[in-house]
Amino acid sequence: MSRPQRPTPVRTALVFGGSEGIGLAIAERLVAGGARVVVLSRSEDKLATALARLGPGADARSVDVTDPAAVAAVVDALVAEVGVPDLVVTTAGYARPGYLDELPADDITGMVATNLLGTVHVCRAVVPHLRAAGGGTIVTTSSMAGLAGVFGYTVYSATKFGVIGFSEALRREVRPYGVTVKVLCPPNTLTPGFAEENRHKPAEVLAAEESVATLTPEAVADALLRALRRRRGFLVVPGRDSRLAAVAIRYLPVVVDRALRRPGPAT
Ligand SMILES: NC(=O)c1ccc[n+]([C@@H]2O[C@H](COP(=O)([O-])OP(=O)(O)OC[C@H]3O[C@@H](n4cnc5c(N)ncnc54)[C@H](OP(=O)(O)O)[C@@H]3O)[C@@H](O)[C@H]2O)c1
Repeated sequence: MSRPQRPTPVRTALVFGGSEGIGLAIAERLVAGGARVVVLSRSEDKLATALARLGPGADARSVDVTDPAAVAAVVDALVAEVGVPDLVVTTAGYARPGYLDELPADDITGMVATNLLGTVHVCRAVVPHLRAAGGGTIVTTSSMAGLAGVFGYTVYSATKFGVIGFSEALRREVRPYGVTVKVLCPPNTLTPGFAEENRHKPAEVLAAEESVATLTPEAVADALLRALRRRRGFLVVPGRDSRLAAVAIRYLPVVVDRALRRPGPAT
């Protein structure tokens, strides 16, 4: 039986959501590995700060992943300019915790539009180019909250479960074109987005998370880069504790349900 091939090193990568947090750490690692990297996000200020950190191996474009026409236009323009990327990563997304009846309506639609539909728009824009080029890799971003429903995260969890379902179906669909799809499932990670998320966490959610390990964005990026060296493997779960949790979610659902329940009497 032949062994899975080692993918060639990344030459050109697009990182949507690459101006901060996990996406920026991934972009940094890719630039350090010699790749030409284009980071994409909305804010010109964040992109300028990211470019100063990334140095001459990087470029930036402003785009909102919730706008499918804008995403398609920027992808087409970049392909004309720098060629078809071998790697496309999308980390653009956010979490707004809160109990369902208290979540602002804008954040309900905002999380679906950014986390789920934003991922769809990016993949839809890049797939024809990867197919025409004979292959490439797409990395989408879910979360540990995409593996198990977490109280206080109803809508966020729904978007991140959605990202996994979408990515699994896409992976099977584009395999004949030589395109690989992986989905990153980070645990809590110290990023600007996580700091903002913490401002909205109900006290019970904060208390439940006291014993949960938190990773750095660099550790998450390193886990992804290790996973990219293996052709096989779909879910990328950074951190030993998170991998154990992922196994428990799959094989010990009753135990996990007890651990993840909101405290208080069942009525
Ligand atoms: N940090 C965690 O604990 C954690 C845990 C599990 C999963 N995740 C997931 O990992 C991903 C990255 O999280 P993070 O903590 O690194 O977030 P972050 O620090 O807030 O960075 C998010 C990046 O996405 C960009 N972005 C946000 N909305 C966008 C939009 N509509 N269009 C284009 N770009 C957009 C942001 O730039 P602009 O604001 O300039 O657009 C920024 O570059 C998210 O999908 C998140 O759900 C994070």
